[in-house]
Amino acid sequence: MQTAVTDDQALARRFPEQIAIATAKDAQGKYNPITLGWTMLTSHDPLMMAIAVGRQRYSAEVIRKAGAFVLTFPSEQQAAEALFHGTKSGREMDKLKEAGTKTQPATKIDGVLFADAVANFECELVSEHETGDHVIFVGRVVASHMNEDASLGRLYSLGHERLGGVRPA
Ligand SMILES: Cc1cc2nc3c(=O)[nH]c(=O)nc-3n(C[C@H](O)[C@H](O)[C@H](O)COP(=O)(O)O)c2cc1C
Repeated sequence: MQTAVTDDQALARRFPEQIAIATAKDAQGKYNPITLGWTMLTSHDPLMMAIAVGRQRYSAEVIRKAGAFVLTFPSEQQAAEALFHGTKSGREMDKLKEAGTKTQPATKIDGVLFADAVANFECELVSEHETGDHVIFVGRVVASHMNEDASLGRLYSLGHERLGGVRPA
């Protein structure tokens, strides 16, 4: 039996939600990461992925201008970093440097991979779609990378800015 509630009350039941981080090069030449909950695969062949970025966010203008981004799936050990990249703005700082995020160069685009993440996907921006107060950026994956340590778990949002791993009981 369902009971009518506010949107926010029902939305609070969606957790755990996967966490991703999109990183693109800004006009100053620094690589700027943004933590995202709103992301999905949209095509298998060719492999394509979409992210929803707030229209006013610094990252929206950065990704649009760069025309490419790396989509990272952080590990459950990267909760503090993901929270940092999701609460500070690249308008004011070099987030990767401040957080001490370990990176390695991307191979097919001008970008950086998160060295300690579970996986990284290099994406070329193929389209942009307006959707309310967010913009959907669709990227075609041109290179994929995974951590040598296959036992690493992914990072999830558990709600109320609590991030962590999700493991079977
Ligand atoms: C767990 C979590 C999930 C988030 N998900 C999104 C998202 O899906 N889309 C978005 O635009 N912002 C999202 N944010 C907020 C941005 O990461 C945040 O506003 C960030 O500081 C923007 O960085 P920028 O100013 O460098 O672009 C999320 C933040 C957190 C902590």
